Formats: sequence, structure tokens, C-alpha cells
Amino acid sequence: MHLKGENVSFGYKRNNLILKDVNISLGSGEVLGLIGDSGSGKSTLCKILAGYENKYQGKVTLDEKEIPPKGYNPVQLVFQHPEKAVNPKWRMNDILNEGHFVSQDILEAFGIKNNWLNRWPNELSGGELQRFALARALSPKTRFLIADEITTMVDSITQAQIWNIVLDIVEELNIGVLVVSHDRNLINRLCNDTVYLKDINNT
Ligand SMILES: Nc1ncnc2c1ncn2[C@@H]1O[C@H](COP(=O)(O)OP(=O)(O)O)[C@@H](O)[C@H]1O
Ligand SMILES: [Mg+2]
Repeated sequence: MHLKGENVSFGYKRNNLILKDVNISLGSGEVLGLIGDSGSGKSTLCKILAGYENKYQGKVTLDEKEIPPKGYNPVQLVFQHPEKAVNPKWRMNDILNEGHFVSQDILEAFGIKNNWLNRWPNELSGGELQRFALARALSPKTRFLIADEITTMVDSITQAQIWNIVLDIVEELNIGVLVVSHDRNLINRLCNDTVYLKDINNT
């Protein structure tokens, strides 16, 4: 299976394109790095690939077909700030199981403790909250994970732990991953291949 962005152009303001004719392709089971300077449009591209932003020009397809806007999105986006991705008024158990029931195996793999399930989001650290966001995103129906600076806020030990778990699960489920970061060392460690946003962006 392939997730493709073809000739993607986008600007938040008219006459100020952030992305111009960007082409990117990601295959099942592939771990592709995307590197770019801060402010260069990485997160914008992630949102477009995952269907969060739809006012772009060009095409985003899954096996040559447009991704239906309704139903479970097989392209899951996890961002740098997990606290922005959760409802602060919901307990973790409800956040976790909102879309589908997350298996005990996945919870154990991510080291999510049972007593965290009863907490509110603000009672967890950024790294703990990010484990929930990833556990929730890696459902059996997910085909691609867009990981936008997902471990930028944690220390290097936690970063390695989280990535080991994610890479195990994506390998098992044959999920393709876009690893987005400004950290070249991290990308070099994790990815089979790397693209530089400045090389594929024609702005
Ligand atoms: N919602 C928004 N409205 C207007 N401008 C935005 C918005 N989000 C991002 N930008 C601008 O778009 C550019 C690219 O941002 P972003 O995609 O977040 O870059 P990166 O993830 O590479 O740091 C930046 O100049 C940023 O200020
Ligand atoms: Mg960003």
C-alpha cells in the first residue's frame, strides 16, 4: 500500500505558499524520515497528509484513491504536543478508547499503568500522555503513522524507549511511518530513508 502526496501546494495566506508542488510517497512497512528547519512547513505537510487540512492543491491518495473523509482514518497523525490532542475534561480511559478499544497488549507494550487510566490528562507527564496518543493511533486499522516530532519533549532515554515500542508495533502491523524531526541523529537511527523538505519543496 502507498500513501502519496502529489504536487501538494498550500499557503495559510493567499500569495504566500508554504508548500509548492511537493511530492512524497510512503510505502507500507517503510520508515521514512522527513527533515526540515523549524518553520519550514513540516507540520503543515503532516496535517495535509493526514486529512486535517483540506484547502490544499494537489492530491493525497492511498493506493491511488482519495481517502474518504468519514470513518476511521487509516492515516493517523500524532503530534509534538499530546496535551493539545486530548480533551482535558475526559479521563484517560475514555480518551484512549474513544475510537476503538485499545488492547491490553498495546497498553503493556507502551508501559501504560492501569492506575493512569483513571487520571485526567493534566495528571500525566508529556511522555506518559504521548504513550496514550500512540497507543490510540496504532490501531489494527491504521496503515500509516505520521509522527510529527513525537518525542521532541522527552529526555533521550524516554525517546529511545518510545521509539523502540513504536517500531516493534509498526513492523508487526506493517504500518508505514513518516518520522518528522529536525533531529538528524534521531532520523538516521530510525529510518531506512530520508527526505529533506527543502529538496522536495519548490517554494
Ligand atoms: N495556522 C496557521 N496560520 C498561519 N500560519 C501558520 C499556521 N500554522 C503554521 N503557520 C506558519 O507556516 C509556516 C510553517 O509552519 P509549520 O508547518 O508548523 O513548520 P514546521 O513544522 O516545519 O516547524 C510557519 O511560518 C508558521 O508560522
Ligand atoms: Mg512542526
